[in-house]
Amino acid sequence: MTTSASAVKTKPEDLGRVTFLDGQGELPMLEITTPWSTAEIYLQGAHVTQFKKKDESPLLFLSQCSRFVEGQPIRGGIPVIFPWFGPREGLGQHGYARLKAWDLKELTQVPDGSVSVRLGLPGCPEASAYPAYTADYIVTVNQSLTLQLIITNQSRDAAFSFEDCLHTYFDVGDVTAIAISGLKGLSYIDTVAGFVEKTETSDTLRIAGEVDRIYPNSTGTVAIFDPRLSRKILVEKQGSASTVVWNPWIAKARRMSDFGDEEYERMVCVESGNVASNGISLPPGGSSNMTVKLSSVTLK
Ligand code: BG6
Repeated sequence: MTTSASAVKTKPEDLGRVTFLDGQGELPMLEITTPWSTAEIYLQGAHVTQFKKKDESPLLFLSQCSRFVEGQPIRGGIPVIFPWFGPREGLGQHGYARLKAWDLKELTQVPDGSVSVRLGLPGCPEASAYPAYTADYIVTVNQSLTLQLIITNQSRDAAFSFEDCLHTYFDVGDVTAIAISGLKGLSYIDTVAGFVEKTETSDTLRIAGEVDRIYPNSTGTVAIFDPRLSRKILVEKQGSASTVVWNPWIAKARRMSDFGDEEYERMVCVESGNVASNGISLPPGGSSNMTVKLSSVTLK
């Protein structure tokens, strides 16, 4: 691990700080404090479980019922989904990246107060089904939260096909009051309706029941207007062709053992990735870079 702190002319109190802690379930985690915000990252899954700006409520939803157990997914925050999205016959849902303890490769305290953490997915038995690859994840914390997932095909002769997704759970005041914009005119796969293809016709998506939709070819910014928490969340992205919107609603919430029965009211997932028809195939030596910036503004 390399630690770089270019502290020239920067007072120590202006630099972001990183503290290594035993998190819930005694899983190792990093607590990051910057002049504008705090964040928490578990090494298991390279999982950002929280980002909170000073004087604002938490941006991310984290279930009170989440497990914090080695090898099991954390419910909430930002699970890193890779190398496949959704179910896979004979294999677990959403890939294995979220179940592995990632390596901490680099910590950077930027003179402006930002903190950047680089994590790498270690080799594992499951990876032997694929050509050699590396997966790096850079999390930058400042006024906003920027997430960069870089996948490189290290093989000399084989293409590497995969899906990736940053499965972000947002904390909202009341899911029935929010309005999600940025999806109008796009076609989507309605998983709840049996994978039927539909078109988003309204300016804003409102949630009044179970929603589980994949919007392929969705490259633009998505905004979540939240009147109850008086804020607008922006999801800006590059290198992500798909958006997934998910809320389990009542019946599915009850079926999920690591999710509270009423917690569906306080969350929505707006996920940025490359899934289904947008799955990526990298030639030997090729690299993909998905960058997602999450920010919020308080509404007066
Ligand atoms: C979403 C899927 O991305 O993840 C849903 O679209 C799924 O179908 C949800 O239920 C949660 O998945 P998991 O594996 O974390 O329970």
